[in-house]
Amino acid sequence: MLRSTFILYALWASVATAASVPKDLTACVQKAFATSDPDKRIVSPGDATYTDARLGEKIQFDEFPALIAYAKDVSEVGPLVKCALKSGYKPVPRAGGHHFLAYSALNNSLLIDLAHVNHVIVSADKKTAAVGGGIRLGALYTALDAYGATFVGGICPTVGLGGLISAGGFNMQMRALGMSADHVASAKVVLADGTTVVASLSSHPDLFWAIRGGGGATYGIVVEYTLKLSTFPRSAMLYLAWNETGNVRYDVAKRFLAWGPAQPKEFTSQVNVYKNTVSVVGWYLGGTVQELGAIVNASGLLEIGSPQVVVSGGCSTDNSRIFGYTAFECLPDDQVDASIMNVVPEPYDQFENNAQFKYEEVPKSSTRAQAWPWERFRRMTKSFFVQKSRPVTDDVVKELVDRIGQLDDASEAWGEWHAWNLSSSSTGGAFAWREQALAHLEFIVTGSEDAATAKRYEQWFTSLEGLLRPAVGPASYAGYMDDSLSVNPLIAYYGSNVCRLVGIKSKYDPSNVFTNPLSIPPRAPQGISC
Ligand SMILES: Cc1cc2nc3c(=O)[nH]c(=O)nc-3n(C[C@H](O)[C@H](O)[C@H](O)COP(=O)(O)OP(=O)(O)OC[C@H]3O[C@@H](n4cnc5c(N)ncnc54)[C@H](O)[C@@H]3O)c2cc1C
Ligand SMILES: *[C@@H]1O[C@H](CO)[C@@H](O)[C@H](O)[C@H]1NC(C)=O
Ligand SMILES: *[C@@H]1O[C@H](CO)[C@@H](O)[C@H](O)[C@H]1NC(C)=O
Ligand SMILES: *[C@@H]1O[C@H](CO)[C@@H](O)[C@H](O)[C@H]1NC(C)=O
Ligand SMILES: *[C@@H]1O[C@H](CO)[C@@H](O)[C@H](O)[C@H]1NC(C)=O
Repeated sequence: MLRSTFILYALWASVATAASVPKDLTACVQKAFATSDPDKRIVSPGDATYTDARLGEKIQFDEFPALIAYAKDVSEVGPLVKCALKSGYKPVPRAGGHHFLAYSALNNSLLIDLAHVNHVIVSADKKTAAVGGGIRLGALYTALDAYGATFVGGICPTVGLGGLISAGGFNMQMRALGMSADHVASAKVVLADGTTVVASLSSHPDLFWAIRGGGGATYGIVVEYTLKLSTFPRSAMLYLAWNETGNVRYDVAKRFLAWGPAQPKEFTSQVNVYKNTVSVVGWYLGGTVQELGAIVNASGLLEIGSPQVVVSGGCSTDNSRIFGYTAFECLPDDQVDASIMNVVPEPYDQFENNAQFKYEEVPKSSTRAQAWPWERFRRMTKSFFVQKSRPVTDDVVKELVDRIGQLDDASEAWGEWHAWNLSSSSTGGAFAWREQALAHLEFIVTGSEDAATAKRYEQWFTSLEGLLRPAVGPASYAGYMDDSLSVNPLIAYYGSNVCRLVGIKSKYDPSNVFTNPLSIPPRAPQGISC
């Protein structure tokens, strides 16, 4: 098996190297980068760092961009878009590189990497910050810490702000404070002709609506967001863990799905269902140990099996953010190790023996330790929203839990299920499922290098789609793109907003310069009449 894998790699490598990069594209990018290090920021298929540079978080073998250009300044992005157009390539932006199908690294594209467009400029009143469109969440949180401020953002420190806002952005404060896209005041967007506009409630409000939940890389490239900042009160945190197989996992999952979404809006929680264990993690924003203890005692969860119970209070924001990753209790502030947030622009571990691309890898804090390299992953996933009008039945929950137990240990299969039921604090944006989502069910498997095993995992996912889709309906999360849905993907990701988004797309990018296989097109797509 190893041997055939090796041969395949050799084949891919030669395909990639054989594809010669047009000289005019390279020359054009060099000109766009003329003011600083033009040669250190361009990676082409012949370079030793190409494999590392084209991979994001997910180890993927499908997408081979023609050229990778690492922008470092907002002003470079418009000229890069023009370079792509002139040479007949698609301009494709990448922020954090977490796209589940690697659509931020498409074949035949000029990949415009924004990870170094990561400035954070906090306003004098500390209410807003102008932030580079490619910053990673951990770097954003670390930079804002210095101002005693934070942002209603997602969980994983290496996720990019650009991709997060494009999908909507769920987070552990969302039941009270809404989604990340609700906390954007304005954005600078590079359009398909290379010009830049400001999108806000008063300037291009249609575009402003679309870039907050209407999908990434579709209407333009957001080079800078002005974010509305928050200050979180000290919080109480929950961690429950059961080392038990069989019915305990099922009972916990069933109980959680009824309990989590119905709690006070300050409490956002998730259940993680593994083959042999199950755990519940929750963040009670501004809550005390007593308040959290009371809802946990009344939850019915403690009567199931014999869980390890951690109900902890007085957590600082950093402590709450690392909870479940590297901390499982609230510690005195001077003992909190938030280094996992202190990520550099290229935060990933090495893939096999490929040379790693590095360029000005400066963390936002020089006093904290730098984050450990984030592990890359052969990630296989599926996403389903459960709607308030159609809660899942106990039989379906039991079947889901059983199925997670059916895969081999190597798959590390697990379900990460979040309680939704957001309070209505939306400030608008194209995320479609805010009112209706009761819970989000994500399933994650570590893919295999072995073809037969990989095939088995794929069949498992196909069968999961067959079981769960009819039970919950079409809604899925646009941040977890999946090309094997059994329903129209545009409906799954954008619901009743599809036609409005098509209209905005046709206004700002009629010739479909920014596109990927699952993006909103400039005309009504097949199967949908607008
Ligand atoms: C470990 C992990 C944890 C996650 N946790 C959360 C979470 O807590 N909450 C949540 O909501 N989601 C979460 N996600 C999903 C994540 O938000 C999406 O996958 C998101 O699209 C990733 O953004 P990115 O910038 O890292 O990825 P990229 O691959 O860089 O971008 C994703 C898409 O957006 C486009 N894009 C990127 N930047 C821009 C820009 N500046 N302007 C226009 N288009 C752009 C890309 O072209 C691509 O199509 C998680 C994913 C992973 C792998
Ligand atoms: C991208 O190109 C590679 C190499 O030419 C090919 O193997 C792969 O299938 C292509 N990917 C897609 C999604 O078409
Ligand atoms: C949604 O949450 C509120 C409390 O925040 C609760 O009163 C309501 O019952 C919940 N709805 C559902 C469907 O769980
Ligand atoms: C929850 O139950 C535990 C164990 O019975 C008890 O010690 C604790 O005081 C209870 N907490 C609250 C807030 O009622
Ligand atoms: C579960 O197992 C892990 C690892 O063996 C152990 O550290 C933990 O304390 C156990 N938890 C419970 C609740 O038994």
